[in-house]
Amino acid sequence: MDDLRDKYIQLISDAGDEAALEALRVQAVGKKGEISLKMRELGKMTAEERQVMGPKLNALKDEINSALAARKASLADAALEERLKGEWLDVTLPARPRRAGMIHPISQVREEISAIFAEMGFAVAEGPQIDNDWYNFDALNIPGHHPARAEMDTFYMHRDEGDDRPPHVLRTHTSPVQIRSMEKQGAPIRIIAPGRVYRADYDQTHTPMFHQIEGLAIDRDISMANLKWCLEEFAAAFFEVDEVEVRFRASHFPFTEPSAEIDFRCSWVGGQLRLGEGDDWLEAGGCGMVHPKVLQNSGVDPEEWQGFAFGLGIDRLAMLKYGIPDLRAFFDSDLRWLRHYGFSALEQPTLHGGLSR
Ligand code: PHE
Repeated sequence: MDDLRDKYIQLISDAGDEAALEALRVQAVGKKGEISLKMRELGKMTAEERQVMGPKLNALKDEINSALAARKASLADAALEERLKGEWLDVTLPARPRRAGMIHPISQVREEISAIFAEMGFAVAEGPQIDNDWYNFDALNIPGHHPARAEMDTFYMHRDEGDDRPPHVLRTHTSPVQIRSMEKQGAPIRIIAPGRVYRADYDQTHTPMFHQIEGLAIDRDISMANLKWCLEEFAAAFFEVDEVEVRFRASHFPFTEPSAEIDFRCSWVGGQLRLGEGDDWLEAGGCGMVHPKVLQNSGVDPEEWQGFAFGLGIDRLAMLKYGIPDLRAFFDSDLRWLRHYGFSALEQPTLHGGLSR
């Protein structure tokens, strides 16, 4: 029995892989294994012999089984060790510059704008790009016959004949997120909603898909003065100057009353834009006090709550800040263009860290 033991312990410790171990297991303790056959012989022994040999054989079988298990574990450890050596990678090495991805200027500007409004206590909200005409129009006080619907050059989704569910559209602005956010959260609320919007329009300053950022602040005593302050703070922070004057030009939107176009004071010196000085005005978007009907349509009581909304064009702000001449280039996916105008993926814009370093 000792010979058997020594033989198998030696063989097991010499086994070089799992297959060899398995063969040894079968050879020793498998159904027709050497030790198993010995156990079968117990039946032919006398009771006294059996009493001595039985426990010994059982102990031997246990010992072989644990030696097999231990060797199996150490083989697995060695295999893992080997693999880890082969797959070793120094993650602290810098990426190869030519291969490092770049952040698209629109993503960059979107992050910059979000960082500025986040600092003022606005949370980021989102809504679907395919929305139904209730959210895109009716809830915003733009009824079916309203000229604003025609003006927006809306893309309508295909509908099967006889399908009389409300039509879906590619949202023409980010304003439907106002409704969805108030429905979900009620008042008070302070959100911005950046995202893609769609209108059937294409020339040097229009693409069928572009980007807006919506702002909404509803509370008990919010006024046009708060709106103007927010926009002035925003413009100064975004263009990284001390101060920018904001001008409100009377306008009309069905979902705000009163409504205004937003202009930033600027000058153009030798084709170069300067914010906060000069006699020119830069159109940045639309704004106003949220119409009571819009509050009502979102389940917010207009007797108790009031506030402002604004919509800014992200693409235009990106072109102006970073001197990008043609809007259409934004969406050409030209890698040379992106390498020139793109931003490092490792530098997140923050107000304290500098927006556009
Ligand atoms: N949704 C308007 C547009 O796309 C902009 C806007 C938003 C105006 C919020 C007022 C308030 O033109």
